[in-house]
Amino acid sequence: MGGFRPGDGLSATGAANVAIRDAAPDDAVAACRVLRESISCLCVADHRNDPAILNAWLANKTPEIVAAWAAQKGNSLLLAVGGDAVLAVGSVTDAGEITLNYVAPAARFRGVSRALLRALEARAVERGNKRCTLTSTETAHRFYQSAGYVDDGVPTGKFGTSSGYPMSKQVVASR
Ligand SMILES: CC(C)(COP(=O)(O)OP(=O)(O)OC[C@H]1O[C@@H](n2cnc3c(N)ncnc32)[C@H](O)[C@@H]1OP(=O)(O)O)[C@@H](O)C(=O)NCCC(=O)NCCS
Repeated sequence: MGGFRPGDGLSATGAANVAIRDAAPDDAVAACRVLRESISCLCVADHRNDPAILNAWLANKTPEIVAAWAAQKGNSLLLAVGGDAVLAVGSVTDAGEITLNYVAPAARFRGVSRALLRALEARAVERGNKRCTLTSTETAHRFYQSAGYVDDGVPTGKFGTSSGYPMSKQVVASR
């Protein structure tokens, strides 16, 4: 699976050529690379380049563990792909918790995470959920707010970061 080159699979205006699909265990190496690059390069507001935080955050982002997530019952690991390049990696549990949503640095701000988030929410709805929950990074907090998520709980640190924002969104209108 090749790396992402600027412009690969993406239109100038957004994520028109991005496809979303379920990950297979064979995707683990490429998906893992995206997770690690996204955390290391994009989430600096969270880890502040502190090696202890980064190491803790990256510790479970190995190809073996990502392959296990792809096969895990009760969990959907989804990829945004452009051509054969993995652009972003997300996951949602059958209980509607979004546990991953990481875009490759070179694919940032082109609508990829927005498209992936919509697919994760759609999967949660297919599994019978009316609400999605997640814990946002500092980096993505504004992104989730603009996607309709509201803060829902006291901020908590994860992997030694000072802020993780519990958030939720009603994904099916209540009657
Ligand atoms: C913040 C982030 C999630 C946005 O995803 P993306 O794929 O880059 O961006 P998208 O084009 O899909 O999303 C558009 C949103 O990103 C933000 N955004 C878009 N362009 C931006 C820019 N140039 N500068 C800052 N924010 C921008 C806005 O919130 C925008 O929503 P809006 O247009 O309604 O204001 C992503 O860039 C990022 O940093 N991810 C790091 C991993 C992470 O923290 N994941 C969350 C784990 S809980």
